Amino acid sequence: MTNFATDALDIAGIDAFYGDSHVLHGVSFTLRPGRLLGLLGRNGAGKTTCMNTIMGFLKPKQGSISLFGEQVGGLAPDTIARKGICLVPQGRRMFRSLTVRENLMVAAQRARGPSGGPGWTMDRVFDLFPRLKERHAQVAGSLSGGEQQMLAIGRALMGNPRVLLMDEPSEGLAPQIVAEVGRIIAQLKAEGQSIVLVEQNIKLALELADDVAIINTGVVVHKGDAKAIKLDDAIVSQHLGVF
Ligand SMILES: Nc1ncnc2c1ncn2[C@@H]1O[C@H](COP(=O)(O)OP(=O)(O)OP(=O)(O)O)[C@@H](O)[C@H]1O
Ligand SMILES: [Mg+2]
Repeated sequence: MTNFATDALDIAGIDAFYGDSHVLHGVSFTLRPGRLLGLLGRNGAGKTTCMNTIMGFLKPKQGSISLFGEQVGGLAPDTIARKGICLVPQGRRMFRSLTVRENLMVAAQRARGPSGGPGWTMDRVFDLFPRLKERHAQVAGSLSGGEQQMLAIGRALMGNPRVLLMDEPSEGLAPQIVAEVGRIIAQLKAEGQSIVLVEQNIKLALELADDVAIINTGVVVHKGDAKAIKLDDAIVSQHLGVF
């Protein structure tokens, strides 16, 4: 049973549209505090649309979104971000002509709420990503893909997330960098960060996730324990393809 008061994020019955195009159909899933939910699905399934709806970029037509029991569905994106939902966007959007340091600085928000640990500072982000520290004065557009992904994660952390949303952080990265990003995500989780991880790298997602929701053409078709899904070839091949 869902305990609304203590869920980090509870998405219930979301319908979302782009114009007349009905993309999400009654999407529901729950992220419990300190856990990692893998949101999986094929290309075009609606994963990014879920992220955009949670962030308030897209207004849900139906359903509710609550953050630690507080309704945030329908609020403006900047209000939602201030309440503590931070996104690592797909394609690692950032200010390409600003330096690494400037990109981190403009993303900073004060720590808040019960899950607030010591709070993220630029120094803490640089401890997590020494490569970014070395390149602090370099413009973001000139970083490698892996470094840009680290900066995108660093930017989200500077928002002191109570819930961190990550949209395909491994996309387009070399295996060695994917492993590094995986280690960082595991470390954030070990520190108690609540995370929704959208991934097409099923192996990575199932290694990191506690719980999984699978979405297919805008409908959640499966929810369950990550370990059980890992062992269930039928579910994986039916909804995600073989890997
Ligand atoms: N701005 C938009 N306007 C109209 N339709 C859109 C828009 N963005 C996405 N869609 C459509 O909504 C559906 C879901 O797209 P979405 O980007 O959420 O999928 P996704 O699961 O994130 O896919 P991917 O793994 O490729 O990133 C797709 O059919 C897509 O074509
Ligand atoms: Mg997407």
